[in-house]
Amino acid sequence: MDRILIRGGQPLHGEIPIGGAKNAALPLMAAGLLTAERLVLTNVPLLADVHTMAALLRQHGIAVEPVTNDGRSLSLGGAIGSVEAPYDIVRKMRASILVLGPLLARMGEARVSLPGGCAIGTRPVDLHLKGLEQLGAVIRLEAGYVHAAAPRGLAGAKVVLPFASVGATENILMAASLARGTTVLANAAREPEIGDLALCLVAMGARIEGIGTDQLTIEGVAALHGATHPIIPDRIETGTYACAAAATGGAVLLKGARLDHLGAVARILREAGVEVEDAPGGLAVRRLNGLHGVDVMTEPYPGFPTDMQAQFMVLMSVADGAAMVTETIFENRFMHVPELNRMGARINVHGASAIVRGVASLSGAPVMATDLRASVSLILAGLAARGETVVNRVYHLDRGYEAVEQKLAACGAEIERIPG
Ligand code: EPZ
Repeated sequence: MDRILIRGGQPLHGEIPIGGAKNAALPLMAAGLLTAERLVLTNVPLLADVHTMAALLRQHGIAVEPVTNDGRSLSLGGAIGSVEAPYDIVRKMRASILVLGPLLARMGEARVSLPGGCAIGTRPVDLHLKGLEQLGAVIRLEAGYVHAAAPRGLAGAKVVLPFASVGATENILMAASLARGTTVLANAAREPEIGDLALCLVAMGARIEGIGTDQLTIEGVAALHGATHPIIPDRIETGTYACAAAATGGAVLLKGARLDHLGAVARILREAGVEVEDAPGGLAVRRLNGLHGVDVMTEPYPGFPTDMQAQFMVLMSVADGAAMVTETIFENRFMHVPELNRMGARINVHGASAIVRGVASLSGAPVMATDLRASVSLILAGLAARGETVVNRVYHLDRGYEAVEQKLAACGAEIERIPG
């Protein structure tokens, strides 16, 4: 397994291109199942998870072909040959569950392996299933698979999500687009990736009101047509590199980043002493003077995103003072803490909260990555630390960050991948 070696202490200076959002690309690719015509996605990030979703769609019979040589534009389309999403693919990527709603809406049936839990939590899909049942699906669980059927098609309904689940919102939104009648989805998640999916569905002929709010009203249509849709920039990649610049005392331009998608991240970074400003072509980020400890609690958008919690904790590890970091979304998302403490951080976990007491500097060490965002937080810690850090098991990283060592090396970081 590849490892990444970092010699820390270099402030980052330069430009970092921000790619298309992983968590928009995956549901948008699943939306390709909703039409027999061609859906073309542009600004596609080159990530392991995107390749996995492409493999899943191909085994459903959908052609997934690059439109441009760099692979950043994909054409999806074709007849669906199989309604089964097999365990050996789903277990690699939980977002595979996002084919359930589209298959059910287009084919009237679906057999999708239940995604297991993952390192950060049990991650049930009960809200997805309950919402689809309210649209008329008959669902049973058997041998680890979701067997869903809607022989007479789906019918619109009023669905109230008990929790603003991103994936459940996406599955129900896609299914409702082809249901008979009107669906009102209340307490819908409001992440920018959902707005991006809704705008793509509208371009395909769907009729959706309330985009960007927590109540979506969908008038089902008989069929959706093809479209071409640009994927929004990745707000978590943006926040990650903003933390990298701040933790190393540097100044970077995040090219293509959108300030309006950052939600609470911009406010919290500014409170911590980081300048985050719109600039020609993207976002300018630099540390002003010292960093201050700032308490954060992860929440659904527009609150502070759980996907930024580990990265922000690194920043707080080298800030003046203390910060309380509370994780309210996932039950086990502090696995980066023991590794950061091995690098000299002073973090104590008490249930869903962690107290971070800033230290003058972290020190490099061999560390182990456990999940996608924990992996990148260890890279950030290595950049800020004195000495050498080796991050093991970086396959987690490649799922969600494109060319991370190249992007950082271009800004002066001493970082290299050691093939394993
Ligand atoms: C999406 O996961 C993202 N993944 C996650 O990003 C992100 O952390 C999460 O939203 C929250 O923002 C993609 O978009 C592919 P949820 P999702 O449904 O849809 C519970 C990353 O690092 N829940 O909003 O699975 C669940 O257990 C990944 O890029 C139920 O109980 O998130 C969790 O505690 C990690 N029942 C909470 O809700 C359900 O049916 C949030 O889940 C669904 C969810």
